[in-house]
Amino acid sequence: MSQRFQGSRELGIFGYLVAGVLWFHRTKAPGSFRGMGPKFKRQGADSLIREDLNMRSMAWLSEKGGTGKTTSAINVAAALARKKFRVLLVDCDPQANTSFVLLGGHIAEPPTLAHVLIGQGEARDAIRKTRYDRLDLLPADVTLADANLALAVELGRERRLKVALESVDRDYDYVVLDTSPQRSLLNVNVMNYVQDVYVPVDPGIFSLSGLGQLQAAVAEVARFLDNPNLKIGGLVLTRMQRNNVCKDVENQLRELFGDLVFPTMIPHSIKIEEAHGRFVSVLDYAPKSPGAQAYVQLVEEILNHGREANGPGAAADRTVAETVHAA
Ligand SMILES: Nc1ncnc2c1ncn2[C@@H]1O[C@H](COP(=O)(O)OP(=O)(O)OP(=O)(O)O)[C@@H](O)[C@H]1O
Ligand SMILES: [Mg+2]
Repeated sequence: MSQRFQGSRELGIFGYLVAGVLWFHRTKAPGSFRGMGPKFKRQGADSLIREDLNMRSMAWLSEKGGTGKTTSAINVAAALARKKFRVLLVDCDPQANTSFVLLGGHIAEPPTLAHVLIGQGEARDAIRKTRYDRLDLLPADVTLADANLALAVELGRERRLKVALESVDRDYDYVVLDTSPQRSLLNVNVMNYVQDVYVPVDPGIFSLSGLGQLQAAVAEVARFLDNPNLKIGGLVLTRMQRNNVCKDVENQLRELFGDLVFPTMIPHSIKIEEAHGRFVSVLDYAPKSPGAQAYVQLVEEILNHGREANGPGAAADRTVAETVHAA
């Protein structure tokens, strides 16, 4: 991980410069930035955080493939939109599965996230409506893999997504990001932007491997880049079945991570898979199915974060350092 962060010192200096300019304008010319972008306040010696924002952002992230990131991003976003929240779903995976589902089985036309990241388009122009009220999509296409490589030599390479999304995210109550399983600069960009990382864990003999590295990656981004409040919002068991492997993995996960593991578990359900094939959320395809009900319940738990002393909310209120320490 640390290799990928080589160069963050130069970018750190660049960040200082940008921060300094913003701070100067905010103090010397009050109001001059009003309505033009996010407002910031200082936190600690070297970080700026946005202070006037009610929007929440969450990334579905795990370094293991096929754990349910895309499925969770789509269904959580759809459930939030049903609850009348304005939601932006951002597809940060070159596989573009989320985009394919949300675009009704079509591949996204340019401009997509790739164009936005390499400066060939504005986020606002790349966002499109979906069949769902209040649910917009910033799609990916295969060129996102090239953009990920191209970014490596660009100035501000770890901040491109953050800069792009901060120009549009105040139009939304929730920004939900789907990610790829690879360790990539793109995922560093994701972690440098979001407030909460949610980790789907599918039960299997190797399920727990990689969780420690993910926590370390989150902690490094929080420490070395410009997202000091980044935290792991919770772990979600997905594709659960009634068998001993699932039971063992659940027990181990709850023992290791305690209240960071959501009470709700997503059952293995063919309806969830079928819904993808019909380009709808499982909430629309089979609202009464256990899979749909589980996602509805999960969203309630996500919304209740911080309200219960010992529930996952307590975990969500911890900083990454505390989370790593607690685990
Ligand atoms: N609860 C579930 N029940 C049954 N099938 C599921 C469930 N969740 C996900 N799947 C299926 O498992 C496969 C992998 O899920 P998904 O694409 O969401 O994982 P992912 O973590 O996004 O994968 P990747 O790492 O490749 O991006 C898909 O075919 C999906 O339809
Ligand atoms: Mg996926």
